[in-house]
Amino acid sequence: MLASMDALNRDFEHKTAQEIVDYFVKTMGQGVMLASSLGAEDQVLTHMAVNASPSVRIFVLDTGRLHPETYLVMAQTQKKYDIKHEIYFPNQDHVESMVREKGINLFYESIANRKECCNIRKVEPLKRALSTCTAWITGLRKSQGVTRTDMKVIEWDAAHNIIKINPLANWSEEEVWTYIKQNEIPYNTLHDQRYPSIGCAPCTRAVSPGEDVRAGRWWWETPDQKECGLHIKDGKIIHPTKDQK
Ligand code: ADX
Ligand code: SF4
Repeated sequence: MLASMDALNRDFEHKTAQEIVDYFVKTMGQGVMLASSLGAEDQVLTHMAVNASPSVRIFVLDTGRLHPETYLVMAQTQKKYDIKHEIYFPNQDHVESMVREKGINLFYESIANRKECCNIRKVEPLKRALSTCTAWITGLRKSQGVTRTDMKVIEWDAAHNIIKINPLANWSEEEVWTYIKQNEIPYNTLHDQRYPSIGCAPCTRAVSPGEDVRAGRWWWETPDQKECGLHIKDGKIIHPTKDQK
């Protein structure tokens, strides 16, 4: 599998992000899904994916704790592109028992609680989403952190046993914003309020000038403890903030 991934990467090395999205959306059809957090990169990819096919599958993991601004851009995006996001919610029984036992904001109390919440609200729904496809497209970029610098445009996602496509792997943050403005793409207005990276509302805050783009995510944890669980490589969870400070 790794050899064929290398060959694929050689093929795609000089392709534009739109060409990469076109190729996978057009050849795999409903077998490929774009994972969207409604963040800037994912809005770029949504625009490209809808260009490739208006019936492209785009999923959102709705943790139940997203910002109102995130729901607003979700609705604006659905309207502009005439699409429906495939929304995945966490398992109701699991959320109920977690919150009854540990409280609504359990994640501030311990790393174990935070991981439990991420597992229930994000990781398990991601597994369900990915069980319906054979490849997924993400908005990961190399410059989001040292742990993402060796990522490839096309990867084998061993944790989920499917192909992972990162068309913006080589894009800078500036390129993302130029594309958004040029194409009048709706974006989360929190980005204008010093939120470069947006996750769940209680676990995301604005960054100060000079801080790295993900400093506002799980800010109360030490960098080496920050991990989410959506992106696993070589058996390790990717936690981009760790090596950035
Ligand atoms: S995270 O691991 O820290 O949460 P990050 O916010 O950088 O990841 O997002 C990286 C990519 O993961 C996004 O571009 C998107 O493809 C996917 N992703 C993150 N959050 C979600 C979500 N709530 N729903 C769907 N995909 C998501
Ligand atoms: Fe829970 Fe925070 Fe993880 Fe969201 S980011 S799933 S609220 S711990």
